[in-house]
Amino acid sequence: MREFWNQKFEGDAYKYGEQPNAFLKQEAGRIRPHASVLVPGDGEGRNGVWLAEQGHQVWSVDCSDVGLAKAQDLARRRGVERQVQTRLADLTEWRPARQAFDAVVVCYLHLPSSQRPAVMANLLQALKPGGLLILEAFHPNQLGLTSGGPKDVDLLYTLQALRDDAIRSDVAGAELLGWEGEVDLDEGPFHQGRAQVTRWIWQAAG
Ligand SMILES: C[S@@+](CC[C@H](N)C(=O)[O-])C[C@H]1O[C@@H](n2cnc3c(N)ncnc32)[C@H](O)[C@@H]1O
Repeated sequence: MREFWNQKFEGDAYKYGEQPNAFLKQEAGRIRPHASVLVPGDGEGRNGVWLAEQGHQVWSVDCSDVGLAKAQDLARRRGVERQVQTRLADLTEWRPARQAFDAVVVCYLHLPSSQRPAVMANLLQALKPGGLLILEAFHPNQLGLTSGGPKDVDLLYTLQALRDDAIRSDVAGAELLGWEGEVDLDEGPFHQGRAQVTRWIWQAAG
C-alpha cells in the first residue's frame, strides 16, 4: 500500500490539487472553532492544511511518506506548519487515542470491506462527545466512470455500509447528513469530471 501511494504521489504536482475537497469546504463550519482534527489518509495534505488555515490543530495520518512530505511542504508554504502534525502509519494497524478529536475528516480513503469496519470503528471511537466525522468517498456507481477512484467495487462505499460500520462500532451517535449522488469533481489531475459519491456526516453523542 505504501509503495502504491508513494509512486502515485511522486513528482511536484499535487495529484488531488492544493485546494480542499468541496464537500469539506461546504460543511467545515460545523466543526467547533480551534478544534483538534484527525485527517486519516490525508495524502498530500490539501484538506489538513486547509483545516489548519481555518484555525484548527490537525493530525494528518497516512501510509505514504512521499505524500506526507508534500503535505509538510504545503503547510510550510501556507504558514501553518506548526498547526499540522504528520504521522506515517498504516490505518489498519495504527489506532488513534479514544475520545481525542473534535472532528475526523475522511476524504477518499478507500479500504477493502475486510478492513473498513475496524478502521471506521477506530475513527468513530476517536471522537470526543459531540465530535463530528465528515466523509466523502466514491460510491459503487462510480465504476465505469473515468473521473477517478478504485476500479474494485469492494473498495467503494455505500451509505448503508457506513451506517452498518457505525452500528458495529458501538459508539453512540447520530447521522446528521447522508447522501449518495452525482457531483462534478475538479480536484487536481486525478479527480476530474462527473462522479458518483457518498457523503456522510455523523456526530458522536454529546
Ligand atoms: C485517494 S488518496 C486521497 C488523499 C486525500 N485524502 C485527498 O482527498 O486528497 C487516498 C489516501 O489514503 C491513503 N491510504 C490508503 N490506505 C491507507 C492505509 N491503510 N493507511 C494509511 N493511509 C492509507 C493513501 O496513502 C492516500 O494518501
